[in-house]
Amino acid sequence: MEKTLWIIANWKSNKNIGEALEWLAVVGPKLPRNEKLKVAVCPQFTELEELKKEVQVGGYPLLVGSQDLSPFPQGSFTGEESAQTLHQFVDLAILGHSERRKNFGETDEMVADKAKQALENQIIPLVCVQDENTPVPEGVKLIAYEPIFAIGTGTPDTPDNANKVSGEIMAKNENVTVLYGGSVNSENATAFVKQENIAGLLIGKSSLDAEEFVKIVTLCEELV
Ligand code: PGA
Repeated sequence: MEKTLWIIANWKSNKNIGEALEWLAVVGPKLPRNEKLKVAVCPQFTELEELKKEVQVGGYPLLVGSQDLSPFPQGSFTGEESAQTLHQFVDLAILGHSERRKNFGETDEMVADKAKQALENQIIPLVCVQDENTPVPEGVKLIAYEPIFAIGTGTPDTPDNANKVSGEIMAKNENVTVLYGGSVNSENATAFVKQENIAGLLIGKSSLDAEEFVKIVTLCEELV
């Protein structure tokens, strides 16, 4: 396979620090060292520092990401995590997830401001879109196609349709890499990444189980 594959764990509001470190102790040593495979974990903010430290101590080939960041720079914005501060712990940030758009009123404009903050602070923005019509902020190169009906429902999109929509997203936005997310597990993961226009996976529920996540990564590694 020519393409590089991204496998990204989105833990959402799950796992305390003990559980996070237990997961890392299982997953870290089993991650393949393959430059065509980029694996990342996105815990809650409170776990970032410790997890990043343990990844470095273990020398694991694992990127660390946040699930959001502030649309503002450092300053008087109570409760927000600025990209400038997060930069010391994270390589990437998931932005505009549908759960944020739905539960926290996040708009396309806010997502664009967040992407700008990420880019200015050397954090890779991973922007989630519902389909080819969701605007992709300038400078964003990594996108996750996440149809709402597939998120956390156990009913993924079909690999064929996900490939088609990913192709449309690529046609509308220059030089972007598209991942698929929504009810991915070890049974269906390879069917998605085998598709021409899909360069990886954003995984929620199945990423919480260390063994299941390792299984997905291992299956994907066999393809690159
Ligand atoms: P899911 O979540 O894998 O639990 O469907 C994916 C996501 O929301 O990123």
